[in-house]
Amino acid sequence: MDFNKFKVRLTEVQQRIETELSSVLPDPDGHQAVIMEAMRYATLGGGKRVRPFLLVETAQMFNADLSAVWPAACALECIHAYSLVHDDLPCMDDDDLRRGKPTVHKAFNEAIAVLTGDALLTHAFEILANIDAPAVVRIELVRELTRASGAFGMIGGQVIDIQADENARNSDIITELQRLKTGALIKSSVIMGAKIGNATERQLSSLASYADDLGLIFQITDDILDVEGKADRVGKAVGKDENHGKATFVSILGLESAKQKARELAGTAKGRLEPFGEKAQMLSETVDYILVRDQ
Ligand code: IPE
Ligand code: IPE
Ligand code: MG
Ligand code: MG
Ligand code: MG
Repeated sequence: MDFNKFKVRLTEVQQRIETELSSVLPDPDGHQAVIMEAMRYATLGGGKRVRPFLLVETAQMFNADLSAVWPAACALECIHAYSLVHDDLPCMDDDDLRRGKPTVHKAFNEAIAVLTGDALLTHAFEILANIDAPAVVRIELVRELTRASGAFGMIGGQVIDIQADENARNSDIITELQRLKTGALIKSSVIMGAKIGNATERQLSSLASYADDLGLIFQITDDILDVEGKADRVGKAVGKDENHGKATFVSILGLESAKQKARELAGTAKGRLEPFGEKAQMLSETVDYILVRDQ
């Protein structure tokens, strides 16, 4: 597959989101300046920006007004960055390296890392509230992102992740864990883009199915990279899932079957895009990018 156009688009979105994030994040100021520094440290200068890319590309399929797209993508990336800051804490995965840099609790301290996550989470909703779009669209975006981030979404998945009992692991539990901890925000990226683009219910439903599959592929490949990846490429420590006894598809199926599962899901995900034809080319190529990624 010729990835050239895809890579150009991804790089454009990565560069633009960096500028957009920098302008929506507060500058260090006042006696609490350290929290603004830590928010910027956690969010700027790294990351693949897959979620903003999905939101932007989905919205573009519907020729959406881009003035709402970039702030929404920033809000999403703030939530994602917050989830990483908390995921790395000693009480969670206890990681020292993230996006090739010391984790926030290492570069600052644990209390600041907890507060940085809280501040990014809160800030995301301020950004959404201020979007230049009709109030009904803003409310829809807030509803979508709160649902995807909370106890029925990403947080719920993190809870299952830390509780997954070694004796009670099966494919259903791991699918649910991955659907929530990673899939929920991936799905939200696509749905928010589609909502900004005024997609119909039928279009939303096809895109939701696509994003469900993509979210699972994303976490399966994250788990594979934890086994096979190189720390300097992935920008985080590898081999940590096995050390921590984490429940993953690799842990129950083995590496080869996990790869096979990801490939099968990739075929299904692309099939969900058929109703959109050529317009969905970037979303379709995102599946290949996620499948073969090494970072
Ligand atoms: C890592 O997400 C955490 C998961 C949900 C698997 P990404 O792989 O998107 O991390 P960045 O944003 O590129 O650093
Ligand atoms: C993290 O999953 C998911 C969230 C942050 C919600 P992982 O714990 O597998 O992510 P990495 O491998 O640390 O990036
Ligand atoms: Mg984790
Ligand atoms: Mg982790
Ligand atoms: Mg991981």
